[in-house]
Amino acid sequence: MAAPQLNRFDKIAPFYDKLAGFAFGNSLMSAQEYNLDTIAEGADVLVIGGGTGKSLTQLLVKNKSCRIWFVEASEKMIELAKKNLNFTNRVIYMHGTHENVPDRNFDIVITHFFVDMFTDSELHNVMQLVHGHLKSQGRWLVADFVNHKYWHRIFLKVMYIFFNCLGALDIRSLSNWDRIIQSGYFKKIDASSFYGGFINSVLYKKT
Ligand SMILES: C[S@@+](CC[C@H](N)C(=O)[O-])C[C@H]1O[C@@H](n2cnc3c(N)ncnc32)[C@H](O)[C@@H]1O
Repeated sequence: MAAPQLNRFDKIAPFYDKLAGFAFGNSLMSAQEYNLDTIAEGADVLVIGGGTGKSLTQLLVKNKSCRIWFVEASEKMIELAKKNLNFTNRVIYMHGTHENVPDRNFDIVITHFFVDMFTDSELHNVMQLVHGHLKSQGRWLVADFVNHKYWHRIFLKVMYIFFNCLGALDIRSLSNWDRIIQSGYFKKIDASSFYGGFINSVLYKKT
């Protein structure tokens, strides 16, 4: 696997949330917020590729004592996340990739619209990395696109072309991330779908 690069989302960062809202309305935010209320008080939370951080606002408001390690490859996204999350000292920002996750174990890992950026074999590595950074009984929360219907395939094609053209991504198709994640390391404990079944939000438990 080639080393992941930094700052590939810098160009798109200033209009990322607007674009997502324009394309999918509230569905992305609903999928991102789904199951955040199951995070226990005092939990240590790892967010990888958290973007502008907007979806974490409610978590920080409702959960008064969780702490978030926010590992994000784009410097511009981190700048926006700091503004969105009001510079709270309960969030530790780290400019880096999933390979730079701090050497500690977490209660929950959140990767929203992140697993769609990896090939099957890369995702296997990411899965092992997440597994290795979770406490026993730890959870992994994933929201992302799925490819179950004809129109999903068309939407995905357009989206991958768009992100390829902007230089943010190299891959061109979506892995079957749910199957890969459950291939021995995690068990699905809850799931919900959004936007006509195009977006799934899934909670997994470490096995
Ligand atoms: C599609 S955006 C999703 C952002 C956010 N999670 C959301 O749901 O709105 C993917 C984010 O992951 C970041 N990213 C890309 N590769 C990464 C990596 N290997 N490690 C950490 N962050 C990464 C990008 O900079 C971008 O902000």
